[in-house]
Amino acid sequence: MRVLITGGAGFIGQHTANLLVARGHDVVAMDTLSPQVHGDPAAAVARFPGEVVQADVADEAAWSRLPTFDAVVHLAAETGTAQSMYERDRYQRVNIQGTRLAAIAAASAGAGIVSLSSRAVYGEGRVDAAGALLASREDDPHEPVSYYGETKSVAEGVLLDMVSDAAPAVIIRPQNVIGPGQALHNPYTGVLAAFLARLREGKPLSIYGDGRQTRDFVHVSDLARLVAWNIVSMPQLGDPRIINCGTGVRTTLTELAEHAAAASPSGRASLEYVEVHRAGDIEHACADLGRLSQIGAPLPEHSSAEAVADFVRASWHGEIAPSSAWEDALAELNRRGLAGGR
Ligand SMILES: NC(=O)c1ccc[n+]([C@@H]2O[C@H](COP(=O)([O-])OP(=O)(O)OC[C@H]3O[C@@H](n4cnc5c(N)ncnc54)[C@H](O)[C@@H]3O)[C@@H](O)[C@H]2O)c1
Repeated sequence: MRVLITGGAGFIGQHTANLLVARGHDVVAMDTLSPQVHGDPAAAVARFPGEVVQADVADEAAWSRLPTFDAVVHLAAETGTAQSMYERDRYQRVNIQGTRLAAIAAASAGAGIVSLSSRAVYGEGRVDAAGALLASREDDPHEPVSYYGETKSVAEGVLLDMVSDAAPAVIIRPQNVIGPGQALHNPYTGVLAAFLARLREGKPLSIYGDGRQTRDFVHVSDLARLVAWNIVSMPQLGDPRIINCGTGVRTTLTELAEHAAAASPSGRASLEYVEVHRAGDIEHACADLGRLSQIGAPLPEHSSAEAVADFVRASWHGEIAPSSAWEDALAELNRRGLAGGR
């Protein structure tokens, strides 16, 4: 099968492409090689195990320049939660218009599409009557608190409308995806890259808030296996599949920092808690994996701690932006009134 991967030169795209090639498929990437993501675009192209077409998913004309394909993995997106709060046009264009065009292309080709949405569509997630946190289920309402989450929520509906009965469709909602190859230059995403930068500079790890916020960190290879499984196990036409991707286990931000420090050469670091709240951030997130089990999809093989360790070891000698880049991104939010003490 020839699989078109939009955003294929990015973090999840490269892992997915390698796995698909290992399973006997051909891959083609459609990617703008966004400067915010790629410190070295030529290296990203060289790493991709297939042709890379430099093109914008939100540009209708670009779709006619692509080779034919049998399936689409739609990953291209703007991904910075806080940045989405002030760059709305850009996020809307890429995340909604881009998904609309990807769905139209899949439908016209009669090709199945696997599209990555996000856990951000759930927003804060549910609690039970006693106030205990509940993992998010696929049928939960969409209550995004960031504009990024809103674009992902709208894009899901647009995708389902556009493919309708013309192509099988799968929407995956990953939690926080981590692992080797994650962008180390993009200060708008990824607390873990910020921790790595500070670890390498011998600085304490800065945690925004009290560190008790929880996330569900899933290894990128577990997500890639889920995508690859869906490509060959598409649902029936007109019966789209919506699934979570995570470990189903919560990790606090303090635990995340401790896992990162433990995997670094010194094995430890001090932590500092900073009174910061950024617009669009949530307190808690975790995936319910009930539906994945029910449909026989592959469940994650790595714990969050293993995923963090893999990331830190693989990235330790990589070229990373200085920790000041994350401080600059926070200052930018402050200037715009989108971050402050609690
Ligand atoms: N990484 C995570 O934790 C996470 C969690 C949930 C969902 N997702 C979703 O997974 C997908 C991939 O994320 P990632 O972590 O690999 O991000 P990434 O930034 O590493 O990769 C995104 C890729 O898309 C490309 N791109 C950006 N705008 C484009 C456009 N207009 N046209 C074509 N290409 C464009 C970028 O150059 C980059 O190569 C995104 O849809 C993201 O929203 C990621």
